[in-house]
Amino acid sequence: MSSQFTVSGLTKTYGSNVVVDHLDLEIADGEFLVLLGPSGCGKTTTLRCLAGLENPGGGSIRFKDRTVFDAAGRVNVPAHRRNIGMVFQSYALWPHMTVRQNIRYPLKVRKLKQAIADGAVEAAADMVDCGQLLDRYPSQLSGGQQQRVAVARGLVAAPDLVLFDEPLSNLDARLRDQVRSQIHQLHQRLGFTAVFVTHDQSEAFALGDRLAIMKAGKIEQYDTPERVFENPVSEYVAAFIGMANRLELLRDHDGWRTAAGDSVDLAHAVVRDRADRGDAAVARLRPEDLLLHGSAGEVPLGNVALHAELAGYEYGGRHYDVAVETGGSRLTLRAPAAEHGSALRNSAPGAPVLISFSPAALRVFPAAGAAAVERATVAAGDPR
Ligand SMILES: Nc1ncnc2c1ncn2[C@@H]1O[C@H](COP(=O)(O)OP(=O)(O)OP(=O)(O)O)[C@@H](O)[C@H]1O
Ligand SMILES: [Mg+2]
Repeated sequence: MSSQFTVSGLTKTYGSNVVVDHLDLEIADGEFLVLLGPSGCGKTTTLRCLAGLENPGGGSIRFKDRTVFDAAGRVNVPAHRRNIGMVFQSYALWPHMTVRQNIRYPLKVRKLKQAIADGAVEAAADMVDCGQLLDRYPSQLSGGQQQRVAVARGLVAAPDLVLFDEPLSNLDARLRDQVRSQIHQLHQRLGFTAVFVTHDQSEAFALGDRLAIMKAGKIEQYDTPERVFENPVSEYVAAFIGMANRLELLRDHDGWRTAAGDSVDLAHAVVRDRADRGDAAVARLRPEDLLLHGSAGEVPLGNVALHAELAGYEYGGRHYDVAVETGGSRLTLRAPAAEHGSALRNSAPGAPVLISFSPAALRVFPAAGAAAVERATVAAGDPR
């Protein structure tokens, strides 16, 4: 993969606060890169540095054969000469301009008169199904329409790089899915290079050719969605991409156990950083990988069984979201409603339950630094 956009050692500080910390990124031509991370980890600041809207303290940024920023060489190409398209969270359309004038704006700034004459504005509007709205003002559009106009404006000048900063987060769930799939289709059709910022893991998995998981101004993991999903490099990444269940494990004379005393065989688990060499480790597990059982006979062969207590449940249509507690850990799982509905409805909180999982679903990390991970994932907040 030839890397067309290279960020090296990018650093941005506000006072004594290092917000982007020697960050490296390589983006291939036509690649859709998703920057994923909790609030405050430096995603927007990184985008603004790429766009030329912030002045980084260090590092360099190359677009194709052009250096657009180099702290040491004192290169800093201004934003309007970087050939970038931008789509932001708040639609940021000019309220006093029509849709046509809004979409035309980047062409005018870059003095691309020929593109205007050739109908680039109309073509961009048609791409996002806004061809009928060209003479309206932003206040006369729905949120989804406004955001689609913003996408058209971001793409109209055929930029080398399109930067998206949480463009879907102000939309309701239905519109979010609609605009998301439209962005996805446009990328597949036009093949522009994109950096897309989000803190929503499902958005990241759906859109990204590669994901960069950010933590405190640095990239913690940079890989395909599939590999991030299957093989998170750290507990921080695991927690951030939906491995919500956390089990503390302790080793005694005959193997690993949970705090509640159930034994856990790590032979088939994915163990990172030699986490199984010490006396304590932390395991992460997705709610989808945890099963609820009515009796011990239902535990699949080879699964690890845990004794727990029912903590609560919520009905979700085909399933119940069930919370259980074991050895001081609260775990969540999805139980099919048809199988478990009546038993759950007849159980009081505190009732003993049996749960199990395949050991291959476990991701095991060193116990050290666990508290820091919890803080970071709590700060990441709800996944919306
Ligand atoms: N102009 C500024 N002056 C001082 N501190 C700033 C400034 N802009 C951002 N910061 C700080 O830099 C850190 C990173 O901010 P940034 O906006 O890049 O985060 P983010 O990852 O985009 O978060 P979010 O998901 O909430 O948008 C935060 O701690 C923020 O308070
Ligand atoms: Mg931001």
